[in-house]
Amino acid sequence: MTTIPKRSRVAIIGGGPAGSLLAFLLHLEGIDSVILELRSRAHVLGRVRAGVIEHGSAEILKQAGLGHRLEAEGFVHDGVQVTFAGDMLRIDFKGLTGRHVVVYGQTELQKDLYEGIDAAGIPLIDEVEGIRVDHVESASPSVSFTHHGETRTIECDFVAGCDGVHGVSRDLIPTGMRRSYERTYPFCWVGLLSETPPVSDELIYASHDRGFALCSMRNEHRSRYYVQGPADTTVAEWPDERFWSELTARLPAGTARSLVTGPSIEKIVTPVRSWVGEPMRHGRLFLAGDAAHIVPPTGAKGLNLAVSDVVYLSRALGDFYSTGSTSGLDAYSGTALARVWKAVRFSWWMTTMLHTFPGSGDDFERRLQIAELEYLFESESARRVMAENYVGLPL
Ligand code: FAD
Ligand code: DHB
Repeated sequence: MTTIPKRSRVAIIGGGPAGSLLAFLLHLEGIDSVILELRSRAHVLGRVRAGVIEHGSAEILKQAGLGHRLEAEGFVHDGVQVTFAGDMLRIDFKGLTGRHVVVYGQTELQKDLYEGIDAAGIPLIDEVEGIRVDHVESASPSVSFTHHGETRTIECDFVAGCDGVHGVSRDLIPTGMRRSYERTYPFCWVGLLSETPPVSDELIYASHDRGFALCSMRNEHRSRYYVQGPADTTVAEWPDERFWSELTARLPAGTARSLVTGPSIEKIVTPVRSWVGEPMRHGRLFLAGDAAHIVPPTGAKGLNLAVSDVVYLSRALGDFYSTGSTSGLDAYSGTALARVWKAVRFSWWMTTMLHTFPGSGDDFERRLQIAELEYLFESESARRVMAENYVGLPL
């Protein structure tokens, strides 16, 4: 069993991708940390989430020494397909930007992070309850929690709030000192995982009058598909037959004919929304990943923003401990948010272009959507803008 330290330089709340990677990057900087996670490892690994790793995120993972399996088992994708009105358009990432993305499930990345954390001897305390953070406005904060019935307190220099969308960290910033920006789209995504060969070698983003659809994958035998559904839908309303028939209807005829269907092994409903909280710092508390911002899944940016946040934060903490300078820490929120907002913009653009907006009755919006898609199909410049953002803006 992992020993719970009484003191650590950095206490990290949440052991998802943001918290786990932060702990590992800090370890590389010689900074000790402790991860406090609400759930068990099995629970965290059971969550099927993102699948696309940006070029820059993959490079970070490789440089950190966490990229062996990603390199061996991840799939390099040099482009994606966009379909509209029965036509298919390839966005050639490699030709347009010289870069690519890697298709590698978040579950696999999380396994690699656990392996790295264990090998480095970083304490990951899971199944903690009732986290309480004190004194973040002082130079010596502390984090208290209950673990297997016992109350514990860890003294630290800094607290990293990496506890995702339902975490407690973001509320530690006093109401009068924070501002949030939100957009909820009037639909959700229904996602299905199946042991079937992917319908295409590359991801397909489909715009259709019945709604958006996405064809993705995990490997040669495992596919991940999504369809746009009503905002208030539930998994129970999507038996496999309904899902497959809706997906088939939204794909071009040739693609639909080659779709192999099969029983689902997992199904989710996920909301489509943006939320950004500013600032991402209060005193000695620093927020990172979904604890600080949510993006609609269309741009495949959520996980990648978690990576860029913790890269900035680990560099700033590295600077602080090696030189005593707080300039990196002072700049953290602004630096991270500048990149976050560009990803929010890209995710909004992809979402708005590709989904149907039920009940808007607004033909003007629909005409703009068609013009946007036609422009993408006709203009290499438009495709380059999409490619540059999809593979990831510089860190
Ligand atoms: P998380 O992965 O949420 O990790 C936060 C961790 O904190 C969790 O392990 C949680 O258990 C823990 N925690 C929460 N509260 C506490 C507490 N009080 N104390 C201690 N620990 C706590 N992104 C994409 O790019 N593409 C997708 O298809 C996609 N699909 C998604 C589907 C769903 C259902 C969800 C929820 C997200 C999806 N995302 C997707 C987003 C992506 O998975 C996230 O952006 C990414 O997981 C962010 O990592 P994180 O570490 O910041 O947050
Ligand atoms: C996947 C999810 C996304 O949100 C996306 O834009 C691309 C791929 C996936 O789960 O594979």
